[in-house]
Amino acid sequence: MAELTTKTVTDAGRAVGRLIKTIEGEARLDPLAQKLAGLIQKLVPEGPVRDLLHGVPLGHPAHPFLVQVPLGAWTSANVLDLLPGGWIPATALIGVGTAAALPAAAAGAVDFAAAHPEQQRVGLVHWASVATAGTLYGASFIARITGNRKAGKRLALAGLVAASVGGYLGGHLAYRQAMGANHAEHVPHLTPTGWHDLGLLTELPEHQLRQRMVGTTPVLLYRDGERVLALADTCSHLSAPLHEGELADDAELGPCVTCPWHGSVFALEDGAVVHGPATAPQPRFEARVTGGRVEVMLPGAG
Ligand code: FES
Repeated sequence: MAELTTKTVTDAGRAVGRLIKTIEGEARLDPLAQKLAGLIQKLVPEGPVRDLLHGVPLGHPAHPFLVQVPLGAWTSANVLDLLPGGWIPATALIGVGTAAALPAAAAGAVDFAAAHPEQQRVGLVHWASVATAGTLYGASFIARITGNRKAGKRLALAGLVAASVGGYLGGHLAYRQAMGANHAEHVPHLTPTGWHDLGLLTELPEHQLRQRMVGTTPVLLYRDGERVLALADTCSHLSAPLHEGELADDAELGPCVTCPWHGSVFALEDGAVVHGPATAPQPRFEARVTGGRVEVMLPGAG
């Protein structure tokens, strides 16, 4: 048996990295990804259902939370298939897992529709793997309830292989490509503590979005008379500059900004997510006007 060394592990990482890079760079997948994204957006129009599927009320994406049921049920069924007396509970778990895959797929689909092209390319292969897994487990369920034990077990085993590939790619999307991560999480860690002078109030045009810098942190400013609202300018969804977005006035929420990239909407008063795909709120700066100058401070910075 080959010896496990640091080099072996590093080389394995390099080989897998090359394979994934190939998928990430495969621009021929883009027309299909764009068509699918358009279709998903038509099927699930902007509104509360899409926001729920993104995970806006949870504060992080719903998809990883929802995939626990199908993956847990399916893999448990694979284990039960190896144990005496496990046939009936395994069949029930495969039925439950296959049904639970549908909401998980819907949540993944809306996230896919609002992603970078590189993420969508990997997402397509992820999708193909988990759709194959769902089909195989579904076929296994049918084989089981029609009394074909051998086919039922084999199809479930094939489903496990496809689900594992899909799970690996899902991990790559979440952890390596940071799809679904909070892209404003670093803001309090990189922003200097205390109050920071951002120039004269009179230099800030009213009811417009402007960007100023606090150290290396871009800050989004909005002025209404003597009052200034300030949020981190880096969109928590995928890092777009929010000051290039559009302003809107909501009767209940006050002034809001719509992200220029994927249309997330944030309330300028407190950074709350009004509409996804973003699920994490924007860090909010305290703002004051002292001697005609605008000052901001990020609570919890440093
Ligand atoms: S970067 Fe995607 S909504 Fe802002």
